[in-house]
Amino acid sequence: MKIAIGNDHAAVDMKKELIPFLESLGHEVVNFGTDTKESTPYPMYGEKVGEYVASGQADCGVLICGTGVGISLAANKVPGIRAAVCSEPTTARLVREHNHANIIAFGERIVGVETAKDILLAYLNATPLDGRHAERVQMIMDIEAKHMK
Ligand code: RB5
Repeated sequence: MKIAIGNDHAAVDMKKELIPFLESLGHEVVNFGTDTKESTPYPMYGEKVGEYVASGQADCGVLICGTGVGISLAANKVPGIRAAVCSEPTTARLVREHNHANIIAFGERIVGVETAKDILLAYLNATPLDGRHAERVQMIMDIEAKHMK
């Protein structure tokens, strides 16, 4: 898969471990930065990765900040994005299966790198489910479309 990844200064170390991990699994990774620990606003990276994923240029995205929350909130303002913060693998699997999350987010200050790898594996190995789950995701998209008017 083609995976877009982005982070703020709080998550540089984790991102630098996760890129080679994802590549070792055979994925192509597009890195939107940041790659330094100079303080930088997380919304920029949430927006960049969100736009890239929403445009279809990547299959999914990975966002990391201190908690995973701020950067996912920003990404979720991009129409078509469903970014989900996870701190363990079961939720990571379910957000793909039930919520069709197209971005997975987590916090370097919250989870260790091995848990982050387990979260990524659970998310990437899961398949979005059809039926009632797809119908509920469509309801989310309908809400988004209604409020864009
Ligand atoms: C940066 O200090 C921190 O606020 C950010 O990484 C993130 O946790 C925001 O949600």
